Amino acid sequence: MAHTRRRIKSGIPLESTDRELFERVTAQGVKASCFFNNKGGVGKTTLVANLAAELALNFNARVLVVDGDPQCNLTQYVLEEEEWLEIYKNTNPVSVFSVIRPLSLGKGYGSSLPIRQSKAFGFDLIIGDPRLALQEDLLAQDWRDAKAGGMRGIRTTFVFADVVKKAKELNYDFVFFDMGPSLGAINRSILLAMDFFVVPMAIDIFSIWAIRNIGSTVGVWQRELKTGISLSEDPSEIASSDQSRKLRFVGYVTQQHKERGGVEPDPDAVASEEGEATRKRIVQAYQDISRGFPDEVKQYLKDFYDADQIDPHLGDIRHLGSLAPRSQSQHVPMINVSGTGSYTQLRKQAREIYRGIAVRYLENVGAS
Ligand SMILES: Nc1ncnc2c1ncn2[C@@H]1O[C@H](COP(=O)(O)OP(=O)(O)OP(=O)(O)O)[C@@H](O)[C@H]1O
Ligand SMILES: [Mg+2]
Repeated sequence: MAHTRRRIKSGIPLESTDRELFERVTAQGVKASCFFNNKGGVGKTTLVANLAAELALNFNARVLVVDGDPQCNLTQYVLEEEEWLEIYKNTNPVSVFSVIRPLSLGKGYGSSLPIRQSKAFGFDLIIGDPRLALQEDLLAQDWRDAKAGGMRGIRTTFVFADVVKKAKELNYDFVFFDMGPSLGAINRSILLAMDFFVVPMAIDIFSIWAIRNIGSTVGVWQRELKTGISLSEDPSEIASSDQSRKLRFVGYVTQQHKERGGVEPDPDAVASEEGEATRKRIVQAYQDISRGFPDEVKQYLKDFYDADQIDPHLGDIRHLGSLAPRSQSQHVPMINVSGTGSYTQLRKQAREIYRGIAVRYLENVGAS
């Protein structure tokens, strides 16, 4: 596949140790990772797009990103406005829906992947589709069949595993899935097709609940699928990679809320002593929550990683103020937003943050 990448100045030269790490990890084969949290608005899409861009533009990785969220936020972010307007004017755009549609028509898996490119982000893309939501029922129904050993159900459940298999044949270094915020049937199929998952978290109590939900729910799904495969008429029809896949946890990234970081005082909150006391209590509460993350992760995700081998904390994303919306309106990654003044400083921070997360991601994937 031809790659036309915009030449960029990353601002931070790649250390030779980072380059070696990258070479070592990619030599181990293609990795499929999803970025998942059933809580909405925790920064999943922003992280997928910007981490994939960091790997593609600065490490020269070949990355395929799949927009598995019917909201299509990622697609809207990484394609130029004119481009996606043109695509979605068509009532039947070629998208992630095209991957799953043949199955619902009883035709098996599609023959090829509908791949486009995001030039500004440097990666390839399977665009999202609001019609993906219509397939939630099919996947839910076929899941019941899969658990009872039905081949049709198992095949449908592995629809995204087939996407990953095809992507691996195309020699990508990484395949990333962005997902909507739910523990529904689409996300089950995605999670069951992955080698790895990353959990983006907001610093709030609901993110702790999300960690608990993910650990227990994914564990149950894996056991149910295993039972289904063992009950199936002919397990040899199921690819051995699908039978032996082991989903592993790479780590979590925390996303800071502007008003809760305690870095910049809120002028309204410090107007009175009472306001100041309230602000301090809130900041303290959030610090307590984030201090609790490592133990929660260790307890609830212990089956998915080796706590002696890896530190699952991949990094903290501070609130980058207006850099985030500007990156959306320019349809470029945060590391390449154009602008002077305060943008110079914010862009520099973004470059440090995403380089740091990319390196930690590579370290943990390499050690798993
Ligand atoms: N580092 C950041 N600094 C400032 N704003 C950010 C940052 N990261 C994300 N945001 C903003 O937070 C909002 C939510 O982010 P995002 O869409 O990535 O979350 P999400 O978890 O994918 O949401 P959903 O659950 O709806 O898919 C967006 O408006 C985004 O611009
Ligand atoms: Mg999202």
